[in-house]
Amino acid sequence: NQRAKMSSSSFSSCASCFLQNHQGGVGGRCSRRISRLSRPSSSSPRRQRRVLFLRACAAQRTSGNDDDLDEDEDATKTKQQHQRNEKKPKKNIAVFISGGGSNMRAVHAACETGEIHGQISLVVTSSYTAGGVEWAMDRDVPVLLYPGGKDLEESERISPSELNEFLKNEYKIDVVLLAGYLRLIPPELCRTFENKMLNIHPALLPAFGGRGMHGAKVHEAVVNSGARFTGPTVHFVNENFDEGKIVAQRIIRIDPSWTAEEVARRVLKEEHEVFPEVVAALCDERIEFRETDGVGVIIDKMDSNKRY
Ligand code: GRF
Repeated sequence: NQRAKMSSSSFSSCASCFLQNHQGGVGGRCSRRISRLSRPSSSSPRRQRRVLFLRACAAQRTSGNDDDLDEDEDATKTKQQHQRNEKKPKKNIAVFISGGGSNMRAVHAACETGEIHGQISLVVTSSYTAGGVEWAMDRDVPVLLYPGGKDLEESERISPSELNEFLKNEYKIDVVLLAGYLRLIPPELCRTFENKMLNIHPALLPAFGGRGMHGAKVHEAVVNSGARFTGPTVHFVNENFDEGKIVAQRIIRIDPSWTAEEVARRVLKEEHEVFPEVVAALCDERIEFRETDGVGVIIDKMDSNKRY
């Protein structure tokens, strides 16, 4: 197919394609990645989901009483949003990971239910051993290694501009998600995906962020500071760690007896809700930018007059 052709002609030696490296075939044609570009049709499961959704609405209508009115209204609005989306192509999402990828899986689950009008089309990893890599491979999602470890020859690496090309032109990526990706994003990617690239951070920015603040370190710093509130922040990405404009936060009250591990567990649970919610808004084009400073503001899915 066309994308496969582009792939083989523009990037004949794609040593940083993880799938190929994994098979020990550095430097040749990445046949596995090319074959992975032809995806099975997803129309049947989608149709099934729609049938289930309509059935759920019908059941609600027949059993409905006054208490159910609000829920009926919500269901109708959700249905209207789904109908609006069905006319538009799904957004292609690239997810950057360095670890387990639980946020990526939460986003994928929301794509599957239709909450997010998008699909994960590419995974970029900074490490061969990131837990999410295997998950992606099992689902036929192409995986790229960027920037790659010290074991990679310079000639085997993807350059920032090649990465940019891959995302923009080969995979036609609309939305980029950093879900536990520990490396700095090249400036040209920040420019290409300005206001289309989100990061999730496990604390309330602008506190407890910046270079080196990731994983357990964040939660330890929060607990040691005596802060009584924490929670995830979703923000747009710029050239500096954790400094882009904030779009959403969730608040958790910290009990003084909690350990950093307990805090981490609770924050991650919130992350799995707030990240898909913001990604859904971005894919639906329901994010506006405050005129004065560019802060991202979400337009409510149920009520287009409401902002938060
Ligand atoms: C999350 O806590 C996220 O906030 C941070 O990295 C962690 C990634 O976790 N940026 P996972 O890989 O999604 O499980």
